[in-house]
Amino acid sequence: VRILGICGSLQAGSSNAALLSAALRHAPASVELALYGGLAALPHFNPDLERAHTLPEVDALRAAVASADALLIACPEYGHSLPGVLKNAIDWLIGTGELERKRVAITAAVVHPERGRAGLAALRTTLAAVSAELLFDAPVVRTGDPAPALAALFAALCSAPSGRE
Ligand SMILES: Cc1cc2nc3c(=O)[nH]c(=O)nc-3n(C[C@H](O)[C@H](O)[C@H](O)COP(=O)(O)O)c2cc1C
Repeated sequence: VRILGICGSLQAGSSNAALLSAALRHAPASVELALYGGLAALPHFNPDLERAHTLPEVDALRAAVASADALLIACPEYGHSLPGVLKNAIDWLIGTGELERKRVAITAAVVHPERGRAGLAALRTTLAAVSAELLFDAPVVRTGDPAPALAALFAALCSAPSGRE
């Protein structure tokens, strides 16, 4: 199963990036997890731009998402919503359909189990717009051992596709 990991934070010391690093270490043998690193280089979403130019960063994002069987998004909460940089990336994918019916796990590295949930809810709303198949949706407390949550996350992402069993 090819999974693309996307971190919604650009901070060098990001706890969500650390969670994705832990996911690399804990990925089952059947999983090929690659991390997308292009979020900061994407232009601000504007359909006019691609009418005028080829946008290599956007093409690379679309190709990476299209070639993945599933996505793992680690997403901090900012202002009770998802980070603008992550919404920007998703906006580039909405019109071209790479996220349609894509299998997705969303999580957030948080200091307390009740934190980060509004960010995940906002991300869920956006992913519903493209009929993504949400298979895991829960924050992970960053002070604890992430292994049990990551095992549940990978089990959900690697489960038999619905309707195709
Ligand atoms: C400007 C700003 C706004 C934030 N807003 C929220 C918020 O609304 N809810 C929340 O739970 N955490 C909020 N946080 C905390 C971040 O989600 C938290 O620092 C998170 O760990 C950042 O992700 P990262 O460690 O992957 O960079 C905010 C942090 C900053 C700097």
